[in-house]
Amino acid sequence: MSSQSISTDNSAPNSDSAGAPDLGKNAGDAVLSGHKIAKRVTGPEGTLTILHELDIEIHAGEAVAIVGASGSGISTLLGILAGLDTPSEGQVNLLNQPISTLDEDARARLRAGRVGFVFQSFQLLPGLTALENVMLPLELVGEADAANRARAMLEQVGLEHRAGHQPLQLSGGEQQRVALARAFVSQPALLFADEPTGNLDSATGDKVIELMFSLRKKQGSAVVLVTHDNTLAERCDRILRMGNGRLEAV
Ligand SMILES: Nc1ncnc2c1ncn2[C@@H]1O[C@H](COP(=O)(O)OP(=O)(O)OP(=O)(O)O)[C@@H](O)[C@H]1O
Ligand SMILES: [Mg+2]
Repeated sequence: MSSQSISTDNSAPNSDSAGAPDLGKNAGDAVLSGHKIAKRVTGPEGTLTILHELDIEIHAGEAVAIVGASGSGISTLLGILAGLDTPSEGQVNLLNQPISTLDEDARARLRAGRVGFVFQSFQLLPGLTALENVMLPLELVGEADAANRARAMLEQVGLEHRAGHQPLQLSGGEQQRVALARAFVSQPALLFADEPTGNLDSATGDKVIELMFSLRKKQGSAVVLVTHDNTLAERCDRILRMGNGRLEAV
């Protein structure tokens, strides 16, 4: 078999409006799919194949963990699925749009307000307060009530009393809670997370996991995360393991 197909049955795709993708929140709809994704890079030793023609499909509201050894390519795959990186071959459909064929601006417009990100290194903007960081995704889509909505979201992650702090004035766990608030404030159809607990001690990491899963339940967001943390992976509906550039169901 030249490629692995990891998917669940999707008998009712919802794709009748090509120009205006829907929110992708109806159970059963694929919010994300990748077909024959390959990634090759040129390193000091010549061409390196990181991903070998793999297939993946994520449905609305589903939580999927992608696990694998360090260096196996899980972050590379997540970046490609999110449209932050381009595959050498293959196609990615995000919210019914073929992101691999869109330019950077069009990809950003597609993600705005519908896709959230949480990274290991938090990646908050250092010059902005917690509140301003959470307001950003709303401002990107021209939301007039951004400040109030961001404040309400900070309350949900228990940080209303830190709204005026800049990232360096927050603990690691607090920064990740701000990052969660920023990721969920626009009620995204899909959340991507790369090692969201990787820089946290285990007790703080557990709290961040609890918070992430309670927010996703409330909002119905699908989650695709890569992690080395088994506790986190086991909270997901499905686990896919990366090995030799291919995925298999666990
Ligand atoms: N631009 C690049 N040029 C050369 N090699 C690369 C490039 N990007 C990634 N790699 C290599 O590809 C492999 C996969 O990288 P990736 O960042 O996806 O790892 P990972 O599976 O997320 O690992 P970790 O769990 O340690 O973060 C690594 O061995 C890395 O060194
Ligand atoms: Mg990684």
